[in-house]
Amino acid sequence: MMHKDSTSTEATSSETMTAAVCNRYGPPEVVTLAEIPKPRPKADEVRVRVRATTVSAGDYRVRSHNVPAGFGLLSRLALGIRKPRQPILGTELSGDIDQIGAKVTEFAVGDPVVLFGDAAMGCHAQYRCISEDGSIVRKPRNLSYKQAAALSFGGTTALHFLRKARIKPGERVLVYGASGSVGTACVQLAQQFGAHVTAVCSSPNIDLVRSLGADEVVDYTTTDYTRTEQTYDVIVDTVGSAGYSRSKSVLNRGGRLLLVHGTLMQLIIAPWLTLTTQTKVIPGVALGRKQDLAFLAELAEKGLFTPVIDRTYPLTEIANAHRYVETRRKRGNVVISVAE
Ligand SMILES: NC(=O)c1ccc[n+]([C@@H]2O[C@H](COP(=O)([O-])OP(=O)(O)OC[C@H]3O[C@@H](n4cnc5c(N)ncnc54)[C@H](OP(=O)(O)O)[C@@H]3O)[C@@H](O)[C@H]2O)c1
Repeated sequence: MMHKDSTSTEATSSETMTAAVCNRYGPPEVVTLAEIPKPRPKADEVRVRVRATTVSAGDYRVRSHNVPAGFGLLSRLALGIRKPRQPILGTELSGDIDQIGAKVTEFAVGDPVVLFGDAAMGCHAQYRCISEDGSIVRKPRNLSYKQAAALSFGGTTALHFLRKARIKPGERVLVYGASGSVGTACVQLAQQFGAHVTAVCSSPNIDLVRSLGADEVVDYTTTDYTRTEQTYDVIVDTVGSAGYSRSKSVLNRGGRLLLVHGTLMQLIIAPWLTLTTQTKVIPGVALGRKQDLAFLAELAEKGLFTPVIDRTYPLTEIANAHRYVETRRKRGNVVISVAE
């Protein structure tokens, strides 16, 4: 969801802050630290002093302009033709409110919060503003700032797709790419929705996905999920390796295929497959809504959803964080510590 909020360029003051900026598409080194004006909240906005943020698959894709096949031109139109239109990446953060606009009623200075900037980004900085009606909620008390920073990106994506699948209790859900940010959220949420969850990952991540509640695990380095006797009501593909042609033989009648990672061609043919086969094929872009973030925060506060943290880097090491995320081997989320 694109919020009209002040990230780096609007409503600024003479004070400065440190931000990680990306002024061209390229390798991790294009992300550098800069001193830029601190944003000032408008009347309906709050300003958050950032404690922690993440480098997500979304950040690495924007920075490197490595997007799923077919989306090259469309994404340049959306993100910026020659360089990222929004130089401050970062989709999510946690922190404390340090200033509020004159019309703000929901939040007060000092409130610990979680903010999802989504496609508007702007979270790799010491301060970020957002409308109080935007995707910002109070931080779950039982989560650390580092955990809270990683609540939104994978969580809202998993929630968006799983809700579209309308999972009924007892249905069998297979999550392909179960150890990533979206995958670890999918395993936990599908389990919350009453599904029987099979997680597909590599050998080193088996214990992790089991600890998140997976009922069964398929190690893709030794076993092909299409070659067991098991069939599924829902398959979630977060990797781009479990599309329709591969998955159709193990999808039950009335099954749903959720293409979190999908190519332009998959997006185009999805309605045709839905019309002409027994499978509903669901591609698309997840939209981060405030009520979804609130739902995740509530689940987290009840101890029913916990963001998985892999490595933590200080803001000064953000290029190294990009380097690690780009390996596509991270487990859950990579956190950037902005201020302790
Ligand atoms: N449609 C949307 O709105 C939307 C929203 C968010 C993200 N996305 C996309 O969804 C994808 C997943 O995002 P994410 O944040 O979960 O990524 P991620 O955290 O970087 O995913 C990393 C995980 O992917 C697994 N993986 C990598 N290559 C694999 C392979 N060949 N086979 C099986 N598993 C593999 C790895 O597990 P192992 O080490 O065990 O192999 C690793 O744990 C990204 O492409 C992202 O751009 C789409």
